Amino acid sequence: MLFTLLVWILIRYMGKFNKNPNNLKSSFSLVWILIRYMGKFGLLQYISRKKAKISKRKENKSHRMYNWKEIVKTHKNTQRKICLLSEGYYEHSFQFTSSLFTGKGDYMKVMIISGSHKGREGNTLIMVEEFLKGAEEAGAETENIFLIEKNIGYCKGKFECWLKTPGTCTIRDDMDDLLPRFMASDIVVFACPVYFDNVPAIMKNFIDRLAPVLLPHFEEDEMGEYRHAKRYEKFPKIAVISNAGLPGQTNFEVESLFFKRLARTFHTELIAEIYRGEGEIFRGKSNIILKPLLGKYKKLLRCAGRELVENQKLSEKTIKELEKPIVPASLYIKFGNEEWDRLCEENKVD
Ligand SMILES: Cc1cc2nc3c(=O)[nH]c(=O)nc-3n(C[C@H](O)[C@H](O)[C@H](O)COP(=O)(O)O)c2cc1C
Repeated sequence: MLFTLLVWILIRYMGKFNKNPNNLKSSFSLVWILIRYMGKFGLLQYISRKKAKISKRKENKSHRMYNWKEIVKTHKNTQRKICLLSEGYYEHSFQFTSSLFTGKGDYMKVMIISGSHKGREGNTLIMVEEFLKGAEEAGAETENIFLIEKNIGYCKGKFECWLKTPGTCTIRDDMDDLLPRFMASDIVVFACPVYFDNVPAIMKNFIDRLAPVLLPHFEEDEMGEYRHAKRYEKFPKIAVISNAGLPGQTNFEVESLFFKRLARTFHTELIAEIYRGEGEIFRGKSNIILKPLLGKYKKLLRCAGRELVENQKLSEKTIKELEKPIVPASLYIKFGNEEWDRLCEENKVD
C-alpha cells in the first residue's frame, strides 16, 4: 500500500519536473528522499532480509548442512538443560549449573580432550590445569575429559556412519555422549604427551571416531587440496597442549603438522599450539630449585588460557615465552639421567 503510494508520487512528480529540464535536479532529490524513506519504513530491509533467507535456504540445501547446537533452553533457577538435536539421530541432553552461563546466556565452552595414558597422573595434566585456570578466569565454561577413563572402541572403518546411519556411528559406547558435547564446544583443546613423535593411541582413536561429523563426498578446498565435505555448519576451533620427555621443540614437528592437517580436514582453525619439551620436569614440582621456574611457566600457561578465551588466539609475546626451555637442555639431561638411574634401582624386581 505504502509502496504503491510512493511509486505514484514518484511517477506524478517526476513527469511534472521533467517537463522543465531545469527542475531535473529537484527530480533527483525527490527520488533520493523517496529511497531514503523507503529504507526508513523498512522496505529495503524487508527485501534484503527476504533475499538473505532465500540464499541461506539454498546454501543449506546444496551443502546439506545442519545446525548442531539447537533447541536449547529449558531452564530452572539453578540448572539449565541443553538439548542437542541433529537430524533426529542424536537426541542427547546434559545439565550445567547456572554459574556456567553469563547473565545473557552467552558463554564460551572450552573442552579439553586429555589423551595421556597416565590420565590424572600425567605431566600433561599439570599444563592443562594451569591453562584451565586462565580460561575460567576469562569466563569460560570448561570440562576436562580423560580419554583413558572412557570406553571408546576402534572405528570399524566400514563408513557405516556415512552410509547406514548418516551422522551417527553404529558403535554404542562413550562417544554417544562425547561427540555432541565436542560439537557444542567453542574451543576443543587436544592435550597429550608425545608418543614416538606422534599423538598417543587413545587420542588417535578418539579422532578417528569423529568421522560421523563429515560427509562422504569429496571436495576441493581453498588451497586446491581435497577433503570430505562437512555435515555441520560449525566445527569447534581447535588448540593443542602437549609435552614430550626429551628436551627441544623439534619433538613436536609431527604433532604440529598433524593438528594443522586435522584443522583443515574438519573445516576449522588451529588457534593455538602449546608445546613443552623437558616434560618430565613437571614431576619435580616440589623440588626447591625447580619450583620457582615451574611457577613462572605455569603463570604463562594461565595467561595463555585467558588469552585464548578472550581473543581466540595467543599474543606473540606469550607464544615466544612459552617456547623458551624451563631449564637448559644440558642440565635437564644430567639430572634426568641421574633420576632414571635412581628409578631403575628403586623399581628393580629381583
Ligand atoms: C610409549 C612412549 C613413547 C614416547 N615417545 C616420546 C618421544 O618420541 N619423544 C619424547 O620426547 N618423549 C617421548 N615419550 C615421553 C613422554 O612424552 C613424556 O614422558 C611425557 O611427559 C608423558 O606425559 P604424561 O605424563 O602426561 O603421559 C614417550 C613416552 C612413552 C610412554
